[in-house]
Formats: sequence, structure tokens, C-alpha cells
Amino acid sequence: MVTSPEHQIATPVLVIGTGGSGLRGAIELAERGIDVLVVGKRPKADAHTTLAAGGINAALSTMDAEDSWHQHAADTITESYLLARPDTVRVVTENAARGIEDLERWGMPFARESDGRISQRFFGAHTYRRTAFAGDYTGLEIQRTLVNRAAQLRIRIIDTCYVTRILVRDNVVFGAYGFDLDDGGRYVIRADAVIVAAGGHTRIWRRTSSRRDENTGDAFRLAVLAGGRIRDPELVQFHPSGLIEPENAAGTLVSEAARGEGGILRNAAGERFMVRYDPQRMELSTRDRVALAAYTEIKEGRGTPNGGVWLDVSHLPRETIMRRLPRVYQTMLEMQMLDITRDPVEIAPTAHYSMGGVWVRPEDHGTGVEGLYAIGEASSGLHGANRLGGNSLIELLVYGRIVGEAAARYSASLSTQRRSEGALSDARAEIDTLLTADGRENVRALQRVLRNTMTEHAGVVRVEAGIRAGLSELDEVEDRMANLGVHPDAAGFQDLAHAFDLKSSVIAARATLDAALERRETRGCHNRSDYPNVDPGLRANLVWSGPGRLEREEIPDVPEDIAQLMRDVSTDGKLVE
Ligand code: FUM
Repeated sequence: MVTSPEHQIATPVLVIGTGGSGLRGAIELAERGIDVLVVGKRPKADAHTTLAAGGINAALSTMDAEDSWHQHAADTITESYLLARPDTVRVVTENAARGIEDLERWGMPFARESDGRISQRFFGAHTYRRTAFAGDYTGLEIQRTLVNRAAQLRIRIIDTCYVTRILVRDNVVFGAYGFDLDDGGRYVIRADAVIVAAGGHTRIWRRTSSRRDENTGDAFRLAVLAGGRIRDPELVQFHPSGLIEPENAAGTLVSEAARGEGGILRNAAGERFMVRYDPQRMELSTRDRVALAAYTEIKEGRGTPNGGVWLDVSHLPRETIMRRLPRVYQTMLEMQMLDITRDPVEIAPTAHYSMGGVWVRPEDHGTGVEGLYAIGEASSGLHGANRLGGNSLIELLVYGRIVGEAAARYSASLSTQRRSEGALSDARAEIDTLLTADGRENVRALQRVLRNTMTEHAGVVRVEAGIRAGLSELDEVEDRMANLGVHPDAAGFQDLAHAFDLKSSVIAARATLDAALERRETRGCHNRSDYPNVDPGLRANLVWSGPGRLEREEIPDVPEDIAQLMRDVSTDGKLVE
């Protein structure tokens, strides 16, 4: 059924994903003189990383001399509600300054103080100011910097290639298969090592800070079908400030930088409601608390007419807004013709970040499938049950370098590459089958059903009956997928891509619901109204390897030099309804 010749490509290392983590990994390989190919489904200049707004963390001590990587590690573990893996946290925080130096060397335009120091701002729940930034366009500037560096190194990037399968023989990777989004041409890519940098799964909720074809759970599906596993899929960060309108962009992020710079939250009655949930830290509390607080205000009838709360920065000097929050200013003008120097913004929690992801080792982010690695939002281990804002961008810099180095070493160590004709023909047949699918079920409509299910049953607050209802609804979606119609047209193969997005989303949703059911406690982002307390026995990661298959993974003790810097975090203000 493949009608035109397949593109046959061979490369030592293949990176799937054109965002920051994929590019950082590729840069490391290229700088070591290793050939690398980067493929992805989004234009490299507009990968999801460009949306990461507010900043990137490293204990540079440019503003607060007392800061240290140990304190950064302690804050990360404390605010993860002890579910972060200490070895992963150490790797990221200890190497964070080097990540910033790499960016500086490649021309990243960080905001600076008048004497030239890199400026650092407060972000929620950090002990010191350690979030470096470029206005509120930090992710965009990082992506530009990495794209430029990749161009200098002549790294080959195909950003119209949708990967549908990782090719594996006897638990050893040998490449990947996919198709071109523009012309449907197929790709057979033979590689010694494959790095999955294909993002998370937050697009499976209705209100989300991801765009239409981003974070649809592709990394989950690719890894699981290759023999990998998923750690903590239920731990999803709902960011407090997503836009409510317009409907087709619901969930678009209003950066936490707005709160970091002094923004105030109010309910419909004008009350500064954070006083009830975290009177010390108020709007600078952790994301999980602020999101739950906003959710509670709305649920209990104190929300705005559109079902939100108000975020107000209009008391800040106009100059601060224009210099430190330019993106929020522009976004609000574009989306709602609203001027934030005068009026508050109506916001509600939005699915923002997958804190779980593909199971990886802390030392090199290997997945347990030989030659297969995962990085960035696709991976897991750093954030536990609540991610500190700004930690995701530093993670991709740190582990991008480490994984690039590991993949280079692995590729050099191979003397042969064993392949499987069966794996390749399965991958081919999967696309062929979808291309001939002419059923009555519409892919986009089923995506909508799935997103409604997850929003209804696995949102900010969860309960056993709801999660079980979600699992049954998911069964129905899967049944309906047997009757799918897929219709690529002259404009391209987007409909085929959406069908694969849907397949990925279904796997990601099932993993999430299975793990949400199993985690019978309230911890960080995971609020179970039927289990409103932390269960110390559940200080473990949950590892999913297929429907209904979950194991608990022990978390090592926190090393003493970090433990002594950790604060007690009370649970006051959690699930106050
Ligand atoms: O709110 C924000 O600017 C998001 C930052 C992050 O997710 O790290």
C-alpha cells in the first residue's frame, strides 16, 4: 500500500522532537562530532518550548548571595511533596549553572541588572530569587538560541516528520518509522540510539496551555510500544492562570511571572482569597495550592460570571508591566482587546505540565530499552507531585547535554545493529490500515470526547467513582475508534497525524486514570476528595506498563546535606471544601 518510495535514512542518533530538550541533546552530539538527525511534527521555530514564558532556574546567587544548588534541590524536593527522585534533583540543580552558561555562550539575551549581572526573579515557592528570564518570552528566546546553535552546527532537522513507531528488536532499538505531514511520504530511519523528546500529555484535557497538536501523549505511546514504561502519569500540573476566553484558545497561559511581579488574585466579591489557603506566601504559593484555591473559589460559587477568578496587575507601574510582562500584555490585547495595565484578567486552572512521563534512569535517562532515551517533558523523576515554575527549562538544558553524551557513547560502543523486518512491516501496515479507514467516526470529535472525559473525571479534584466512570468512557472511545474515518487531503496529512495523536492520547489517558485510581491520597497536584490526606505509605512513584499494570517504585532517602535545608510543608489550605 506504500505508493511512493520510502525515504531511507541512516544516522547514529535520532532525536524525536524539535523543542528545547531535543535540540539541546542534538547540539551535544554534534559538538562531539556525532551525526544526528532531529525529526518532529512542529515547526522548529514554533515548538512548544516557545510557550514556556516566565523563566529558568539556577542558583546563580546574582540577587541573593545565600542561594546554593543545595537549597534549590531542597526547594524542589519539598515542593514535590517528596515524590521527586533525589538523585535526579541533584543532577539538575548541581548542573544548572552550567546550563545557563551554555545558553549565554550561544547568545541567549537574558535580562540583566544595570551592572551586567543576570537578573533573577521570584517564582512561586522558591526560597530565593533564582529564576533567570528574558521578559516573559524566556522559552521563545531559549528556542531561538538553540535553533541558531543547531544551524551553526549544520544539524539536520526535518520538522514535518511524524514518527509513528520506534523500531525495536529484542529490547534493542534500531530506528523509527514515520510519515511526512506535507506529502505523506514515508520515512524509514535506521539509528543506533533514539532520544524521545516528544513532550507530555496535557492536551488530553479541555482547558490546556498546549496548542492543538502539542503534548498529545506521543512520547507515552512511542515508549510503551517500544517496551518502555510510564512513571506517575497521574501527576499533572494544573497551572492557576489559564485564559477562559476565547473558547478556541481556552487554557492559554498567563505566566506565573504576573504573580511573581506582584499580581493579585481576587474572587468575584473582590476578596484576596489566597489569605484563606496560604496566608504566608499568598499569590507566591505553590502552583498546586493556587490552582486548587482558584478551583475551590469557583466551585463554591465565588467565581466570576464566566467561571473564573481575577488576576490583577493593574496596580503595578506601567513600565514594570511593559518590561517584565510584555507577552502577557500582548496576548491579552490580541485575544481579548484587554489592557492589563488597566483591567484584571479572568483566569481559571489549565492543564499545563506532565510531571510524570517515560520511566528513565537518573544517570543517563536511559529507559531500560537499550539505545532508547527520553528527555524533557517526555521524561520523569524531577518534579514529583508539584513542579516549581522554571525547573522544566533548566531540566531540558541539563539532561539534554547528559543524554546527548550518553547516546554518543552508546552508539560508539555498538559493533553491529540488528534489525527486524517484522517490526518494520508492522509499522508500515499500521499507517496503511489507517489510510484505508473509511468509517463514520470522526477523529477530531473523538478527541473532543476524550478531553471532556479527562476534564470531567481527572481534573484538579478526583474521586474514585469519577475515575471509574472515566475508564468506562475511555473503553467506549476505544470501541468507536474501530470505526474511524481518516481523510488526508490536498492540504496535507494532518488527518492521519490527528489519528495517531488520538491513539497516543488514549494510551496516555488510560495510564493517567489507572494511576489516579491507585494513588488513594491527596498529595500536591493530585487531589482525591475521597482521600483528603497524604498517605505516607504512598511516598512512592507509580510505574505503568499497560492497562491495569502498575507497580510501586521506592524513592531513595533524601541525602542529609539537602534534607537539612528542607522546610516542613503543612497541608493547611489543601482541599478546604
Ligand atoms: O507561568 C509560567 O511562566 C510557566 C513557567 C513554567 O511552567 O515553568
